Amino acid sequence: MRLDDTPTPHLFPPYPMAIEIKSPREIEAIRVSSQMAAETLCLVAEMLRPGITTEEINTFVHQDTVRRGAIPSPLNYHGFPKSVCTSVNEVVCHGIPCDRILKDGDIINVDITSFYNGFHGDTSATFYIGEPSAEAKHVTEVARKSLELGIAEVKEGARLGDIGAAIQQFAEAQQCSVVRQFVGHGIGRKFHEPPQVAHYGTRGKGDRLRPGMVFTIEPMINLGGWEVEVLDDDWTAVTRDRKLSAQFEHTIAVTKSGFDILTKRFAPLKHSEIYPNFFPAS
Ligand code: MF3
Ligand code: CO
Ligand code: CO
Repeated sequence: MRLDDTPTPHLFPPYPMAIEIKSPREIEAIRVSSQMAAETLCLVAEMLRPGITTEEINTFVHQDTVRRGAIPSPLNYHGFPKSVCTSVNEVVCHGIPCDRILKDGDIINVDITSFYNGFHGDTSATFYIGEPSAEAKHVTEVARKSLELGIAEVKEGARLGDIGAAIQQFAEAQQCSVVRQFVGHGIGRKFHEPPQVAHYGTRGKGDRLRPGMVFTIEPMINLGGWEVEVLDDDWTAVTRDRKLSAQFEHTIAVTKSGFDILTKRFAPLKHSEIYPNFFPAS
């Protein structure tokens, strides 16, 4: 979601709500919606190849979501015209599906949110179309690892800033940059609710994490600078230098001992999780 950088936002209406603590039953409901989104994402992976259009991805996501009895949350959200976000190459996020044909060497983030039984679940991944360049592979694998490192910070008593700091420290050490203008978000009965989860920041700062908080972590990682601009369609966010950007997203619940990835997948993601040793586990 777009960062709200209003100075001291608590002083101005509309006063943001506090971070909601979800009950175990609410968390199970968010898990159901989240697993729908995750399963749809796995099925999208199967259809990706050079020659398809982002509109074909939209049609599939829409139909697969509705087939499950769910609603695609993006459709008509603040006027968004499609059922999924498809963000190719220099597009950072909020790419609008259209007749653009995917070609060999492209990278594409597909961001799926399902609304079912009153709750949203939100997840995304970046995929390789055909053979990636070394640059495409680098930014995509840095983004994947950034999400993993952010998630690893989540546990009762940690702070929101710990998540951002872990991501920023890793991504910048890999000669990449972290987008500032878009952040992760609380999720539940609303698509976007408090807290804002920045993917940059300072360890020890920010709200304390409490069991029952549910939010997304969704780092957008750029090969060049972090600056973003929004195109004239008022949605498509691109890197200002038009260099590549990649993103991964999970919906996470905070637990006493750590985290629960509500959008967890149970098999490697086709056309995405294909370089398991890019950053060897140390
Ligand atoms: N799924 C995006 C996110 O991760 C939000 C998309 S809003 C839309 O927060 F309107 F563009 F769909
Ligand atoms: Co999303
Ligand atoms: Co999100």
